Amino acid sequence: MTTQPHLIIVLAAGKGVRMRSDLPKVLHRIGGRSMLAHVLATAQEAGAARLALVVAPGMEAVRAEAKAVAPGIEIFEQTNQAGTANAVLAARPAIEAHRGDVTVLFADTPLIEVATLRKLTAALEAGAGIAALGFEPADATGYGRLIVDGDGRVTAIREHADASEAERRVRLCNAGAMAFRVADLAGLLARIGNANAKGEYYLTDAIAVVAGQGLITRPVVCTEDEAMGVNSREQLAAAEAVFQRRARSRAMQAGVTLTAPDTVWFSFDTSIGRDVTIEPNVFFGTGVAIEDNVEILANCHMVGVRIRKGARIGPFARFRPGADIGAGAHVGNFVEIKNAKLEEGAKANHLAYIGDARVGGGSNIGAGAIFCNYDGFNKHFTDVGAGVFVGSNVSLVAPIKIGDGAYIGSGSVISKNVDPDALALERAPQEQRPGWAAKFRTMMGRRKKQR
Ligand code: UD1
Ligand code: CA
Repeated sequence: MTTQPHLIIVLAAGKGVRMRSDLPKVLHRIGGRSMLAHVLATAQEAGAARLALVVAPGMEAVRAEAKAVAPGIEIFEQTNQAGTANAVLAARPAIEAHRGDVTVLFADTPLIEVATLRKLTAALEAGAGIAALGFEPADATGYGRLIVDGDGRVTAIREHADASEAERRVRLCNAGAMAFRVADLAGLLARIGNANAKGEYYLTDAIAVVAGQGLITRPVVCTEDEAMGVNSREQLAAAEAVFQRRARSRAMQAGVTLTAPDTVWFSFDTSIGRDVTIEPNVFFGTGVAIEDNVEILANCHMVGVRIRKGARIGPFARFRPGADIGAGAHVGNFVEIKNAKLEEGAKANHLAYIGDARVGGGSNIGAGAIFCNYDGFNKHFTDVGAGVFVGSNVSLVAPIKIGDGAYIGSGSVISKNVDPDALALERAPQEQRPGWAAKFRTMMGRRKKQR
């Protein structure tokens, strides 16, 4: 059989009570983005011709997230959470307008991969009416069981609560994803009843209905990692762990050295070049891009930063959104950089805050330098030219401009622009009283004896 255009329907109307959260379950994050966004991105990558989402009434934040990820998505409301078959039926207008295959995914099963969706489609192309995704979890409690006959056909999916003792011994479980190649999916779903332990309309009962039409259901098997459903905070953490494991191996396969992989944390969009070395305990929030040959020493935290070729970072460096670290630049311990560009070869090796600024190529920012960017109301910009030397413990009070090649003496509070190649100093003149310390010690020693 042939390839058909695909409608992918993502179900997200469940209440998610087991999360005990004010946030809708599918907006909880894995690798820095919502579970819903993970599933929608996978659906898009799999080449869905049409994308639909089913939400419950009042899930405005879920709708907004879906539109942000997939602007063309059609969103439907399921009035009562009467089960997965009922949820798919909420998308009836999309189903009826579509000519081709339909795949149903759960928004609470975020780690499913494109290759697996392709396997479901392949099963349809090989002649199945339904392809059902199965997996063998270490602990099957709570999952529906795939009942497979001697010819490798799925004859039913039995929910845990409805399963007999013998059926509960079946290890192949329902991952939730199902693909359909049937003439009238909406008509088929409308025939499903709710005579089960929960009194819900189960999508999985479509298997029996198609069997009555002479169509067969084939199982497609994936790993437990992919099929993991998130219903609780513990399962959320377990899914996060799987995500991190995948991200670490992807990075290493792409030529990144992780000296302690288990301690490095990635986001979904972390991008790292070749021959980058990352020491233990490094956290990549969203929006981090690292070019080739960068070295990141231990204990760094970064969000929204680009680090260019050959830079050396850390230990204990912190980057916040809008940081841009030039080629060959050095950023050392306890340096925080936000919305600031360090140009090629610039250095800030210890104890500094650089916010809302440019630091020109080859400039050196001394220990304890603070870019005073905030006056309590507004943020202001600091422009430091190329080849500037900023001594230790300098405050640069923005808005301010330091010309190329200027030299700022240690301890100065600089609040006026400095010309190129000038020395700027702001200090009270040093006073010296000869012999004062010796006299002071003698006097204090006498008083101590008298007591
Ligand atoms: C479901 C499956 C079970 C499978 C497990 C895998 C059914 C009947 N059960 O159980 O076989 O092993 O997932 O994780 O399919 N939803 C709606 N509307 C509803 C009910 C659910 O949109 O009325 C959505 C939920 O938001 C969720 C998905 O459907 O994304 C699954 O619902 P959930 O209640 O989590 O089902 P499980 O009990 O986990
Ligand atoms: Ca679930």
